[in-house]
Amino acid sequence: MAIRFNEPFLTGHERANLDAVLASGQFAGNGPFTKRAQAQLQVRTGAPHALLTHSCTGALELAAMLLDLQPGDEVLMPSFTFVSTATAFMRTGATVRFCEIDPATMTLDVADAARRLTPRTKAIVPVHYAGVGADMAGVLALARAHGLAVVEDAAQGLDAARDGRSLGTFAPLAALSFHETKNIHCGLGGALLVNDDALFDRAEDMWERGTDRSKMFKGLVDKYSWVSPGSSFYPSELQAAFLSAQLEAVDVNSARRKAIWARYAEGLAHLGQAGLLALPQVPDGVRGNGHAFFVLLPTGQQADAMREALCAQAVQVTIHYVPLHTSKMGAQLGYAPDDLPVTRSAAERLLRLPLHFGLTDRDVDQVVAAVDGFLRR
Ligand SMILES: Cc1ncc(COP(=O)(O)O)c(C=O)c1O
Repeated sequence: MAIRFNEPFLTGHERANLDAVLASGQFAGNGPFTKRAQAQLQVRTGAPHALLTHSCTGALELAAMLLDLQPGDEVLMPSFTFVSTATAFMRTGATVRFCEIDPATMTLDVADAARRLTPRTKAIVPVHYAGVGADMAGVLALARAHGLAVVEDAAQGLDAARDGRSLGTFAPLAALSFHETKNIHCGLGGALLVNDDALFDRAEDMWERGTDRSKMFKGLVDKYSWVSPGSSFYPSELQAAFLSAQLEAVDVNSARRKAIWARYAEGLAHLGQAGLLALPQVPDGVRGNGHAFFVLLPTGQQADAMREALCAQAVQVTIHYVPLHTSKMGAQLGYAPDDLPVTRSAAERLLRLPLHFGLTDRDVDQVVAAVDGFLRR
C-alpha cells in the first residue's frame, strides 16, 4: 500500500456539527459556529481577536488591505513561500522584495532582509515554515527600527510557539490556513488573528464586505451600510462547523504529529551524522507542531533521484515551493534565479516526507528504510 504524503485529518465529530447547521437553517457565515471557532482560536493562541476567512489567502489579502499600502511601497518576504504570500500584497499595488532564508529552518534570514531595505519599504512578512517559528525577535527589532508593519504568515503555524508565545501573536496581524493539507482543516479555510485592538474595528468592517453589519448585530448601529473597502472574506457556517469540531482535537492531532516528526528525526539522525543529508534544525525556544518533516540532500540532482526512487516504491515524497523569484511570475518581476542563491539551492535540495495523523510507526520506519536504502546503495 502506498504511503501517502498527506491524508486530511478527521475527528469523527464533524458530522454532528454539520447536522446542527442543517437543522439551524443558518448557512451563510458569521453565525454561531463562526463565533465558536473564532473563540476557540482566541483561547488556543491567546490572540485577542480572530476572524475566520475562506482561506489563508483571504486572510493575507485582508491583512494587506488593512495596511493601506500604496503603489510603489515595498514589502519584504522570503522567496521560499506559497504564492499567496506575494499575491495578497501585490493586489494592493505594492512591490514585493524577496529575501533569503536560513536553510537550517527554511525561514526568513533577517540580516538579508535588512540589506534589502529601501526608503520605500513599508512591511515585512515572515513565514513560519513547517510550523517552526521564524526569528520573530529579529523581525520585530528590524520593524521597530525602520517603522515597518509586520504580518505573520502562520499558514502552517497553529499550535506552535516560539519563546513561549503562540505563532500568530507576535505581529499585529497574522494569517492561518485551514486547507486540507494543514494539521487542522475545514477543506478550505483560514483566519486572520488581530493582535492590536486599534485595528480590529476596521478589520471587522472589511471582513463584512466593507459594511458595519457586525456592529448592527452588537446593537451599536440600527442599520448597516457601506463604511470602508472590503470583500466577502468569511466562510459559510458549514465550514465553520467542520472547523470547530477539528479545533477541539488540536491536542491529540499535535501530539501524534510531533511523535511522527520525532521518529523521523531519530530514524534519520545517522544519515545526518554521515553527511548524506541535512535534517531540519529547531532553534532554542521553538515549539513545533509536527506540521512537516523535510530533508535537504547534498544536490538537487540527488533530491530528484531520491524522489523518483521513493515514489517508485510507493512512498510519496514531494518537493515544496518552487521559490517565487525563480517562477515565471518572478521572472516577469525582474528576478533571475541566481539573485537568491541560498534559497534556490535549498529549495532544489529539499524533499518533504509523508506526515499525517494516520501514519503508523511502521509507515514511518518504512519511509526511513527507503531513504536509508537510497542513500547507502
Ligand atoms: C506559507 C503559506 N501561506 C499561504 C498559504 C495559502 O493558504 P490557503 O490555501 O489556505 O489559502 C499556504 C498554503 O499552503 C502556505 O503554505
